[in-house]
Amino acid sequence: MRNSIEFYYGGRSHRLADVAPTDMLLTWLRDGQLARGTKEGCNEGDCGACSLVIARLLPDGAMDVQPVNACIMPLANLDGAALFTVEDFASPDALHPIQDAVVREHGSQCGFCTPGFIAAMVAGQIAGVPHSAEVQIAGNLCRCTGYGGLIRAFEQERDTPQPPAFQAKLEAAKAWMNNAERGGFVLETSAGSVFAPADLESFAALRQQHPDALIVAGATDVGLWMTKGLKQPPKLLLTGYVTELHALEQDEAHFTFGAALPYSRVGQHLLQDYPEAQAWFDRLGSVQVRASGTLGGNIANGSPIGDGPPLMIALGARLRLRRGSDTRELALEDYFIAYGKQDLAADEFVEAVIVPRRQQGQRLMVEKVSRRVDQDITAVLGAFSQSADGSLRLAFGGMAATPKLAKTVMASRNPADIGQDFEPLSDLRASKDYRLRVAENLLRHFLNAEQEAAA
Ligand SMILES: Cc1cc2nc3c(=O)[nH]c(=O)nc-3n(C[C@H](O)[C@H](O)[C@H](O)COP(=O)(O)OP(=O)(O)OC[C@H]3O[C@@H](n4cnc5c(N)ncnc54)[C@H](O)[C@@H]3O)c2cc1C
Ligand code: FES
Ligand code: FES
Repeated sequence: MRNSIEFYYGGRSHRLADVAPTDMLLTWLRDGQLARGTKEGCNEGDCGACSLVIARLLPDGAMDVQPVNACIMPLANLDGAALFTVEDFASPDALHPIQDAVVREHGSQCGFCTPGFIAAMVAGQIAGVPHSAEVQIAGNLCRCTGYGGLIRAFEQERDTPQPPAFQAKLEAAKAWMNNAERGGFVLETSAGSVFAPADLESFAALRQQHPDALIVAGATDVGLWMTKGLKQPPKLLLTGYVTELHALEQDEAHFTFGAALPYSRVGQHLLQDYPEAQAWFDRLGSVQVRASGTLGGNIANGSPIGDGPPLMIALGARLRLRRGSDTRELALEDYFIAYGKQDLAADEFVEAVIVPRRQQGQRLMVEKVSRRVDQDITAVLGAFSQSADGSLRLAFGGMAATPKLAKTVMASRNPADIGQDFEPLSDLRASKDYRLRVAENLLRHFLNAEQEAAA
């Protein structure tokens, strides 16, 4: 195994060996490279000031271009990737068309948020995203200008080709990535070790040798534990380079999503079968969070308010867990035992999430209730599925210590029975009574539609 990482930035390759588990990209850029165009606002993935553009090669050789939050991006996750920051977009003679449009549309005042917005919009322009400007910039916060000019800037330029000077940089980066290695390294520093195997067998063996290592996928949870919780885990085990953990298979009956697949890639497939989940997807963090964060991490962290598990439970998903060469499968709802307790041994890990394909006549509704539309933590999330034979799967997040099925209501079909399934907490996001009321109303909406269809 190598003892260094290598990535492409500023028109050349950077090889780094002295990388500690908690070293983040933003600090390396601003303090190490003195590239201070990329700003630090919240340092927790929320404000988008630190957004930059990252390119990675997909298994089919295509270049996946996404905006990410550098503040919570561990440097160790960058092996074989290419980075572009606000310093890269303009040529000496002209602004990038997105920058030009932001100026034209008065989308900037103090300018603090501007590099992050530009990065999110340039990434969306390169990727040719199908969604609205609002979705593309939902992960970026502007404290003074307002969003109208920024939205207009993206809408006007979203189909404009990249200017030749920047296109040449993208092509040079792709040529570099074609010859780059991805994973297969161990970084040892006085602050700790980072293990980054490239195949499943090595990952499983390392998990057994180091059950105390913290598994890291996209680090959109773990990154905050480091930057805000000031945790200094001495050992990391990275999923991001393990080819098999990026499996994306589909047959007539199931999707199999490898645990290290980011939401951005899961969504492309899942939403084709379940377009009703589009708003759920668009409100799961931001484009930056969905580019790094994984479905595997969202499930593995066991949070009662994660947005992935209720939908996956409603769809009847199963988890494949691995320990050494042994695998087992379980229904996702059985994985969550109690608050902070999952059915996962210390040397085991999540390998894949297996999601049934849509059946003929299946109905689905998924609704996230939160105080703010974008970038907010769920108060209640209801995900309801009904098969053509009438059987129901009614799952909730935010109603109990774990994501859970409303089994009493599934049997009685009476939304008023919700109090028999759940006794939610009151907290900052919602009171117990509000949670029960809103959950009952969501169920009423779904079950009334069933009765209306039958009438
Ligand atoms: C700004 C922001 C907004 C967010 N918005 C939302 C939101 O709207 N909805 C939501 O649900 N979440 C949200 N999150 C939380 C987070 O993005 C998700 O939980 C995400 O899916 C975590 O995935 P990850 O790959 O980043 O996990 P990581 O942070 O890498 O890991 C999370 C946990 O899972 C464990 N883990 C990861 N992979 C495996 C594996 N294969 N096997 C065993 N354990 C594993 C890790 O050890 C860790 O305990 C947000 C986060 C941020 C920063
Ligand atoms: S500094 Fe706010 S998202 Fe990174
Ligand atoms: S222009 Fe000042 S924060 Fe956006």
